[in-house]
Amino acid sequence: MSRRDSILREMGLGAQWKLRDNPAADEAPLAVSPAPSFLGDSAPPRPTPTLAAAEGRGAAIATMEWDALRAAVAGCDACMLCQERKQAVLGVGDVNADWLFVGEGPGAEEDERGEPFVGQAGKLLDAMLAAIDLRRGEDVYIANAVKCRPPGNRTPEAEEAAACWPYLERQIELIRPKLIVALGKPAAQTLLQAEVKVGASRGRLFDYKGIPLIVTYHPAYLLRSLADKAKAWEDLCFMRRTMRELKEKA
Ligand code: URA
Ligand code: SF4
Repeated sequence: MSRRDSILREMGLGAQWKLRDNPAADEAPLAVSPAPSFLGDSAPPRPTPTLAAAEGRGAAIATMEWDALRAAVAGCDACMLCQERKQAVLGVGDVNADWLFVGEGPGAEEDERGEPFVGQAGKLLDAMLAAIDLRRGEDVYIANAVKCRPPGNRTPEAEEAAACWPYLERQIELIRPKLIVALGKPAAQTLLQAEVKVGASRGRLFDYKGIPLIVTYHPAYLLRSLADKAKAWEDLCFMRRTMRELKEKA
């Protein structure tokens, strides 16, 4: 068996591997889509919240406990993504988790079911977690940079990510994970507030307010990129090693 095949087997990716030949894989969340219809002429005027209002909202979110946070996200209309969502998707898992994984935003299935990473990319994420002995919900919390599905799974706009940021910021404060894993560029850029290139950032430890942060590829991207799956495996090993060291230090 080649090294690549054994890596894939260890990641539990034997089956998902076939997805490369499956046209549905091309519809994975990172695909670029046409401009959303709500940008048409008939769209209602965009609200322009004042800086003070935005600060007030951020300050309120910063004090919320889980129930309030869940309710606030469910009814949120702070950006245009609220217009086409079926439901907002706050996150899932153990609120005392050591591990926090952050994706980009809900896709169609997540929007339907109200849980992050339950579609094709989610199956790959579950396999990646299993490869390092983790399971969704057990010492793991999974969230997204934006809580509402971008129409057609386009990448969230910077202003949408900014509007949604107070929720993720509060989630991190409540969870206090030992390690944050940013899945893909939008998540990394949202968390680090900087331009990030995933290829150049992987294998390094970043710092988010004192919490170590690792950047790796988004699973939807991995479904389409053979070469980078092996790198993702290296990243998983790096995560596991980092967590072990963090626990030893504690
Ligand atoms: N992709 C993401 O980034 N998040 C999800 O929840 C699902 C797919
Ligand atoms: Fe609110 Fe975030 Fe949804 Fe925008 S994406 S409406 S900020 S919950």
